[in-house]
Amino acid sequence: INYNVSRERRYILEVLFNGLRRLEYRGYDSAGISIDSSILGSAPLVFRQEGNIESLVKSVYQEVSTTKLNLEESFSSHSAIAHTRWATHGEPAPRNSHPQTSGEENDFVVVHNGVITNYEVLKKTLVRYGFIFVSETDTEVIPKLAKYVFDKACEEGDQTVTFSQVVLEVMRHLEGAYALIFKSRHYPNELVACKRGSPLLLGVKEFDEEGNVGPSFDDGKSLSNNIRPKELFLSSDASALVDHTKKVLLIEDSEVVHLKNGAVTIVKFDQAMGKRAERLARPASVQRALSILEMEVEQINKGKYEHYMQKEIHEQPESLRTTMRGRLIRGGSSKGKTVLLGGLKDHLKTIRRSRRIVFIGCGTSYNAALASRPIVEELSGIPVTLEIASDLVDRQGPIYREDTAIFVSQSGETADTLLALDYALENGALCVGITNTVGSAIARNTHCGVHINAGCEIGVASTKAYTSQIVVMAMVALAIGADTISNQGRREAIVDGLIDLPNKVKEVLKLDEEMNDLAKQLISEQSLLVFGRGYNYATALEGALKVKEVSLMHSEGILAGEMKHGPLALVDENLPIFVIATRDACFSKQQSVIQQLHARKGRLIVMCTEGDVASVSVGGSCRVVEVPRVEDCLQPVINIVPLQLLAYHLTVLRGYNVDQPRNLAKSVTTQ
Ligand code: G6P
Repeated sequence: INYNVSRERRYILEVLFNGLRRLEYRGYDSAGISIDSSILGSAPLVFRQEGNIESLVKSVYQEVSTTKLNLEESFSSHSAIAHTRWATHGEPAPRNSHPQTSGEENDFVVVHNGVITNYEVLKKTLVRYGFIFVSETDTEVIPKLAKYVFDKACEEGDQTVTFSQVVLEVMRHLEGAYALIFKSRHYPNELVACKRGSPLLLGVKEFDEEGNVGPSFDDGKSLSNNIRPKELFLSSDASALVDHTKKVLLIEDSEVVHLKNGAVTIVKFDQAMGKRAERLARPASVQRALSILEMEVEQINKGKYEHYMQKEIHEQPESLRTTMRGRLIRGGSSKGKTVLLGGLKDHLKTIRRSRRIVFIGCGTSYNAALASRPIVEELSGIPVTLEIASDLVDRQGPIYREDTAIFVSQSGETADTLLALDYALENGALCVGITNTVGSAIARNTHCGVHINAGCEIGVASTKAYTSQIVVMAMVALAIGADTISNQGRREAIVDGLIDLPNKVKEVLKLDEEMNDLAKQLISEQSLLVFGRGYNYATALEGALKVKEVSLMHSEGILAGEMKHGPLALVDENLPIFVIATRDACFSKQQSVIQQLHARKGRLIVMCTEGDVASVSVGGSCRVVEVPRVEDCLQPVINIVPLQLLAYHLTVLRGYNVDQPRNLAKSVTTQ
């Protein structure tokens, strides 16, 4: 690459590109940036490219070195924005990438995370006003609306309209979920960001010697005397900030952040603000202390591994330890072994009195809840139901005041789960969050909860978050059931099982080579069925999901009890079938499933507990994967690991991108 740009300029470009690289796991079909041109007050430059971040990087440097754009010259403005996209409206293409612009002059440019639900109405109006739309995105209405508001204010003689006043007016018209950052030709050296529903963080780098004191933002004139940030960052995700700073402010819904010449002002949008004059008057400023990110840069690097998914599979012994750290009480004479979940302790009585526990989640998080249902039912004695978040909202299913609704989500930001949370809150249920992301919307909007503390998960296919979620839910079951004498022995056995679980996961990871070998056998198959039941019905669903989402091989998890009611028709000598038959109350039933599949010449791979090969291999006729035995309710944590490894190796062997599976995104913040 011929960089051909000044060092200062290159620094800004690299900050943007590196930020995008950190966010790439959240969307990767196209990307774009906007930086200032060298001439103050001229239109910001916009670069957009289909494909991954590296194609954008290449195209930007190529363009600046081959065109007339002279970026060598000094420039006086240093505010820039960038975006990586997971397409919702409009195919991946430069015109649909962000930043979206107000028109050819780039008067206003905007990056957006979320979905604007009323964009069609806004678009019609803006077209009537003469705006020409060039993308199929919902986002394009936003910069155009900003231009309209700005031009109108100027026409009416209001030359002093500020950037945040323009944005406040834009927000009044937007419906849906968004985190937005605006840049404008009219406001060089300024950025305005706002949010509703989608996450947004402000990172502040370099304070004076007094260090981490929360800034007292003073309505925009300048930062207070003792706070002098060197650089300010806005991002929807902490992983893009942690290279620069750990000091962040979690921006809340309806807040508008204005960065101007190094100063920060935050104001709250209020839909009730009536007349335009009132809205454009100065709203009250917000003051809040900074939080410190717990994330380490090493956590978001691949280390010695080739892929994030591989790293995250192999770090499960450690992530499980972190999940349990400080939460297992090994027992004094009076208390016995038990758990301590600080985030739930004030609500346990209410949970125990609830008429029903409803687990709500999507994808892998739903599967984790499914794996945990039996133990929660057993130890709490309370009926447990499961809801896929979108389905609950679609049906407007019954949720009552007497319910405890537990929201399970790695990211804490999944749009469907958030909508279900709003719905449960409206219906008066006690809402509990189980998430991996401190400060996420689910963590903030639930009444209480437990963080899973699995560390940052970057691979789109969730692995370590799944096993940690199961462990958290087992601990929740122990906490709810802690006042029942009759199951104390069972609870103590589970606590012992939890303590030893990381070691057992370490053992099962030794199957890595064996699963690579199995992947070689399966590499050209069209399909793989996975049979499980009881605690391991979830393992079947989650194992099949892993295979399907990353290796792009069709795979289906099947409840073995339903075999005779349909799936048996698929069985022949060609279709590979993975049967989970580890020791638990369902073992003998699974043995008979194996017999029946074998009788139809099924091509079986069986997972069994160590020492059980002879009991499951039907005379040595099928391939067997042996795993260590743990307490039945924790067995899904062990059993998923070989399937995660299988999915990983299948993907590598089939030549697909492990960490960025086709069409998927890590955190789906749109409906
Ligand atoms: C997406 C991800 C999955 C994840 C699901 C739920 O589909 O690709 O890995 O399981 O969202 O996400 P959450 O963050 O709520 O657990």
